[in-house]
Amino acid sequence: MCGIVGYVGPLAPSNRPLEVTLEGLARLEYRGYDSAGVALVTPDGLASAKKAGKLANLREELAERPLPDATVAIGHTRWATHGAPTDANAHPHLSADGRLAVIHNGIIENFQALKAELDGTAFTSETDTEVVAHLLGRAYEETGDLTAAMLAVTRRLEGAYTLLAVHADEPATVVGARRNSPLVIGLGDGENFLGSDVAAFISHTKEALEMGQDQVVTITADDVRVVDADGTPAEGRRFTVDWDANAAVKGGFPTFMAKEIHDQPKAVADTLLGRTDGHGNLILDELRIDESILRSVDKIIVVACGTAAYAGHVAKYAIEHWCRIPVEVELAHEFRYRDPVVSEKTLVVAISQSGETMDTIMAVRHAREQGAKVLAVVNTHGSTIPRESDAVLYTHAGPEVAVASTKAFLAQITACYLLGLYLAQLRGNKYPDEVAGYLDELAQMPAKIQQVIDNEDQVREVARAMKDTTSVLFLGRHVGYPVALEGALKLKELAYIHAEGFAAGELKHGPIALVEEGQAVFFIVPTPRRPLLHNKVISNIQEVRARGARTLVIAEEGDDAVNEFAEVIFRVPRTPTLMMPLVTVVPLQIFACELAGAKGLDVDQPRNLAKSVTVE
Ligand code: F6R
Repeated sequence: MCGIVGYVGPLAPSNRPLEVTLEGLARLEYRGYDSAGVALVTPDGLASAKKAGKLANLREELAERPLPDATVAIGHTRWATHGAPTDANAHPHLSADGRLAVIHNGIIENFQALKAELDGTAFTSETDTEVVAHLLGRAYEETGDLTAAMLAVTRRLEGAYTLLAVHADEPATVVGARRNSPLVIGLGDGENFLGSDVAAFISHTKEALEMGQDQVVTITADDVRVVDADGTPAEGRRFTVDWDANAAVKGGFPTFMAKEIHDQPKAVADTLLGRTDGHGNLILDELRIDESILRSVDKIIVVACGTAAYAGHVAKYAIEHWCRIPVEVELAHEFRYRDPVVSEKTLVVAISQSGETMDTIMAVRHAREQGAKVLAVVNTHGSTIPRESDAVLYTHAGPEVAVASTKAFLAQITACYLLGLYLAQLRGNKYPDEVAGYLDELAQMPAKIQQVIDNEDQVREVARAMKDTTSVLFLGRHVGYPVALEGALKLKELAYIHAEGFAAGELKHGPIALVEEGQAVFFIVPTPRRPLLHNKVISNIQEVRARGARTLVIAEEGDDAVNEFAEVIFRVPRTPTLMMPLVTVVPLQIFACELAGAKGLDVDQPRNLAKSVTVE
C-alpha cells in the first residue's frame, strides 16, 4: 500500500526528476490512489505539491502551478491509514523549517509517544508520517547529514515503514529506509532510482538491488550506499528485472484488467517455460530446498490471502491427489494467531503476487520460527516474501497493474501444479511418463485459455444486460469451489455487488434460503467424464432452478446434460478435471470486469482497495 518513487539525476537542474517520478507514480498507482504528491530539490530550495484523489489531480495542480527544475525528486501515491484522504494528509510531509520532505509507506505504531515529545510543534496533518518529518528535521539540525539523520530517527521507530527523504541542502541525494515494507533500488547510468517495486523504474533500467530489513540507502547520481541500522556498510543482492516495460501499459485495451485477462495464455505459458528437461521431467532448480527434506515432508500448509488463497485451494486438490501429502490452506492472517501445528517436516507454501502482503510475510516468519521450511510462489522479483523464504518458485505473469488479480491467479495455479508434479516425481508417487502426461496437458492450457477469451463477447453481453443486478451467487464443487469463491470476490471488489461463493454441496445446508425468483446463480460444472461429481452439480442446478433462480452455467463443450437447466451456457474446452480452474475462472473474470465497466465504475482501481496490502 502506498507507492513510493525516488530519483537522483545529474546536478544540472531539469524537469527529468519530476517527469521520472510522475511516470513511476503512474505505474505504482495501483498501490493506493487516495492522494498523490511530490517533493523536489531545486536551486531555490525545496518545492512540493500534493493533492487528494488520483494522480490525475496532482497532474492538474502541477499544470496550473508548475514546479521549478530540480536535481532530485521523491513522489508518493497514498492508501490512507492515519487520517482521511485529504490534501493536508497527502504526502510529502515537511519538517518545521520547510527544508526537509519525507514520504512514507507503512504505519508508525509508536507515533503518538513520539508526537508527545514534539511539544510545541505545529502539525498540519493527522498522519503518523508528519511526526517522522519533524523528527528528521530536528535530527538534521543536529547532524547536518541526511543519512545520519535517517539512521538516528529510524532506530526509534516501531512498526512498518519505507521512508524516503530529501533536504534542500543536499541537492544530489535521496535517502531511503525500510522495515517490513518494500523498497528496491534501480541502478541507472548517471542516475539512480528508488521504488516500492521495480515497476517504478522498469522503463529506465532493468538492473536492480534488493534492500534488506532495517537498512538505509543513500543514492546519488553515480553512487548507491546501503548500510545496516548500526551504520555498517551492507551489500544488497543485485538482480536483473525480466519484466517488459510494455507489459505495464494498456496496449489498446480500455483497462489494465481487460488487458491482463488477455495476457493470461502468455502468463501460463511463461510460467511453464524452461521448467522441464525436454524429456518430460520437471526441473525446478530454483527450489533451493534439499531434495531429502522435500522427500520427507509430511504436511503442506498453504498460506495466502484473497485470490492467492483461492489458488492455494486449487493446489490442495492437485497436490493431495498427485502426492498423497495432506495439504491445508489457511488465510495467512489466521495462521499466525491460532497456534498452528507445524514441524520440521511441514512445508509451508506462501503464495503472493506482490510478495509484499504483510499478513503473508508474518505467516512466513511464524512458520520459519516454528522450524518449517517455506517455499514462496511469488510474481514480483526483489520483494520481501521470496527474500525471507527458504525457496522460491516464481510465477512469470509479468507486472499486474489492475488491483483485481487475474493473470497472477492463473500463473499461481500453474506454478502450484508444477510444484505438485515435481513433488510427485521426486517422491515416486507418479511414474515419469505419468508426470510427462500431465505436463503435456498443462502445455495445452494456454491455447485453451485463449479459446475461452475468444468467446468473450457472449460473456460481455450477458454482463451488460445484468448491470442492475444486486445479488449473484456462485456455486461449484471440487476445484470448481475455489473458482466459485473467486468469481464472487471479483464481482464484489469490482462491481460492489453482493456476491457469495459456496461449495455447491453446501447449498442445502443454508444458502438455498437466499434463492428466490430471479436470483442469479452461476454454476461451475465439472467435466461429465467425472459422472459422480458432474451429476451432483446438475442436481444442484435443478434445485435452484426449481425455486425460480436464473442459472448461468460454465460447462465443458459437449456437455449437453446442462442444456435443459441453464438459462445461459458459457462453454469451455475439454480439460482434465484438476486443470479446469484455468479455463472456468476466465468467464467469471470477464463478467465482473464488463459488469463493473457497464456500471461506470473504475475497474482498475476499485474503491477502498490497494493492490499490495502492506499493513496487517
Ligand atoms: C483480489 C486480489 C487480492 C489479492 C490479495 C493477496 O483480486 O487481488 O485478494 O489476491 O490481496 O495479494 P498478494 O497475492 O499480492 O499477496
